[in-house]
Amino acid sequence: MAKKRTSKLRSRSNMSISSRQKGKRATSAQKLNLHLNEALAIENAAVQRLQSRIKQTKIKNVKQRLQAHLEETKRQQERLKQLISDFGNGQRSATKDKAQLPIPTPPKSLANIFQKMMTSAESELIAAKEDAIVENAEIILYDMLTHLAERMNAGSAIAILSESLSEERAMADWIKTNTPDMVTQLWPEIEASISMVEEE
Ligand SMILES: [Fe+2]
Repeated sequence: MAKKRTSKLRSRSNMSISSRQKGKRATSAQKLNLHLNEALAIENAAVQRLQSRIKQTKIKNVKQRLQAHLEETKRQQERLKQLISDFGNGQRSATKDKAQLPIPTPPKSLANIFQKMMTSAESELIAAKEDAIVENAEIILYDMLTHLAERMNAGSAIAILSESLSEERAMADWIKTNTPDMVTQLWPEIEASISMVEEE
């Protein structure tokens, strides 16, 4: 009895999935092309962000690591462009557009106070936090792409995507490992800006 009900439910849910999917059909090449282009748009934005971070940061080892990752990111763009041409079946050419990077925006009420109170050292900390968020988002992006590529009969893309995935992981790990050292370097400036309660 219970068995019957389960199979009835399952067939009903299958039906509703197939009716929802009507009009959303595309070949796996079209779909993969779109996912690869979405990743490329993120890397296009990442290149621009890394270039401005390299100019902005005053911390020497951060500048060097960002510079190295900029070169990696340019190679990641090339890999994605190659995959789009190899697997995209000519559906859509590689995008030059830039995605919006997943960087949190504080509410205006806090942003105004931050601007008044924050030292350049604290701005550097916020930028490093954003670097970490972007790199971790890219890890998720490439990890998901490798699984999709496997399902979409693009198995040979997996090794290429995995190469970018390990670069993103290494960058995210580096930011995390470097955080204590960075805070140590920035702390004197932050400390100097702290007014003692008893002085007020
Ligand atoms: Fe990255």
